[in-house]
Order: sequence, then structure tokens, then C-alpha cells
Amino acid sequence: MSNDYHISVLREEAVDALVTTAHGVYVDGTLGGGGHAEAIATRIFPLGTLVGIDADADAIAEARQRLVSFESDRLILVHDNVSNIRTILRQHNIRHIHGFLLDLGVSSFQLNEKSKGFSFRTDDTLDMRMDRRQALDARTVVNTYSEEELTRVFQSYGEEKFSGRFARAVVEYRERKQIETTGELASIIENKAGGRFFVKALARIFQALRIEVNHELENLSRALRDTMEFLVSGSRIVAISYHSLEDRIVKNFFQQEAADKAPSGSKLVPDTLRVPRLRIVTKKPVIPTEEERVNNPRSRSAKMRVAEKI
Ligand SMILES: C[S@@+](CC[C@H](N)C(=O)[O-])C[C@H]1O[C@@H](n2cnc3c(N)ncnc32)[C@H](O)[C@@H]1O
Repeated sequence: MSNDYHISVLREEAVDALVTTAHGVYVDGTLGGGGHAEAIATRIFPLGTLVGIDADADAIAEARQRLVSFESDRLILVHDNVSNIRTILRQHNIRHIHGFLLDLGVSSFQLNEKSKGFSFRTDDTLDMRMDRRQALDARTVVNTYSEEELTRVFQSYGEEKFSGRFARAVVEYRERKQIETTGELASIIENKAGGRFFVKALARIFQALRIEVNHELENLSRALRDTMEFLVSGSRIVAISYHSLEDRIVKNFFQQEAADKAPSGSKLVPDTLRVPRLRIVTKKPVIPTEEERVNNPRSRSAKMRVAEKI
């Protein structure tokens, strides 16, 4: 297991923004190695309760070890998708929460773990599932999606300009042989991308596949939407994202919930008034300090947004 697994991005900033009372119930919806969770637990235990959720069973096991000194009925670790937050909280008879943290994407552990197949830097099975109980994996996507579907995935989730070209290359290759490994896929992309831009193209294509396989954007929207009913007044949502698609979802959700009008969409029909449910705390996203960016390169793309329930 790599050491950088334990470097949590914007750890102090996130926990400072999140914890408003030690007596509260806090949800870490993306537990990972438990770095943020440990910082939250240190501030709230033994008065508060911490619910940690992760779609990856290995992350739960890793976090459980890290949080062993907090083991009690106030520490609840759940192997599930955070998009099921409503069911998860109801199952644990939790009606109100005092803070909700999301530190999105994959952990360095997941990127470095060969069997998970998230990285184009090593030659692994093309998997990319955060949750191994799920049927859809990256191998299925690249071998069964039509050229049009692959183009859409590369375009929408990788924001890749040459999506059509890469989709075509994938389809041509698999007419001869199924694509089994990350190395095989990387060489297909590399051959088509050419020049010095291929690493960026690879990063975009792998990001796109990961988002598709794990339904990352839909799950994020659902998690944000369904958490609202549990948040008490004055409690915070803290969301750290690593690419513009995620950040846009968080930003738009906060703006929508902070607005006192819902646009009608027509000049002829007046906007409808609505009661805002959130107050935006970070007008601009918080980004890591230069020192953090140097010490933890993974933090470089991080953007943290905070909103408070009214
Ligand atoms: C960046 S890591 C979190 C690291 C953690 N904050 C720490 O300090 O160690 C993201 C984690 O969230 C999990 N994850 C991402 N999206 C998820 C979702 N929709 N539901 C549950 N877990 C998710 C991933 O499996 C991964 O373990």
C-alpha cells in the first residue's frame, strides 16, 4: 500500500469548514483511507457521531484500521454508494446530520492498486469499478459500446476533442481482438494521438471511462440532492472536486439552492419565487496552498466549495 494514500487533500481546511459543533452527526461520503475522517473524529469524539461511506470495500477495510482508536457505536462505516445516502441514514435511524463531506474521485491507493485498473501508467486488467459488486466494468464498456456511444463517453466525460477518432480506433482494434488490459487500451490511444499530447489524451480517455463505469456524475448529483433533507440549519456541505465536470455540478447545485428565484426559461413567464435552502460560504473555490501542491501533486487540481444550510 502506498504512503501517499494517507495524504488527504485540503484536510485542515475541509475539517475547519465542516465541523461546527462537536455534538453533531457528520457524514464522510467518500471515506477512502480515512484521512479526513480521522481529523473529523479527533474533533468530535466522544461527543459526536461519524458515518463513513465508501463504494470500495478495500477503502472501508483500510479506514477501519486507521480509525481503530475511535471504534465505538459512534463510528459507523458503510460499504455503499453515497448516492444511497437516504437509505443509509434511515437504516441507522439518523434523521439529522450536522455536516456532509465529499472528497470526490479515486484515491491514490486505487490508482496505484494494479488490480483496479484505473491507471494508464501500468498494464492491468481493464476494470475501474470502485464497487466490485457492480456488473459494469471498463472492459465491458470498451468492448461492447457502439462507436457512437464511445464517442459520447469520451466527449462528455473526458471533454476530448478527438473523441470520434479514438472511438473509431477502439472499434477497429476490437474487430480483431477484445481489449483486455489498460496497457492495450493505452497503446490504441497512443497510436492515434501521436506526438507529445498523448499523455493528456490518455488521461482524458481514462477519466471518461472511470466516470462512465462508476456513474460518478449522476451519483454526485443524487448524493447532493438527497442529503438536503437531513442537514440541520447551520450545517455545512463541503465538496472537494478534481475536475471541471464534478466542480460544475457542485457549483450549480449550490447556486440553485441559494437562489431566491427559479428561472421560468421564458421572457413571457415571470420567474417563480423560491425559498433558498443554502448560503454559499466560499464565493470562489478554495484551492491547496503552494506547499500542499508541491508535497502532494494529486492535490493540484483540487477545488473545495462550501455551503451552509439555512
Ligand atoms: C479521494 S478518495 C477519498 C480520500 C479520503 N478523503 C481520505 O482522506 O483518505 C475518494 C474515495 O471516495 C470513494 N468514492 C468516490 N465516489 C463515491 C461514491 N459515489 N460513493 C461512495 N464512495 C465513493 C472512492 O472509492 C475513494 O475511496
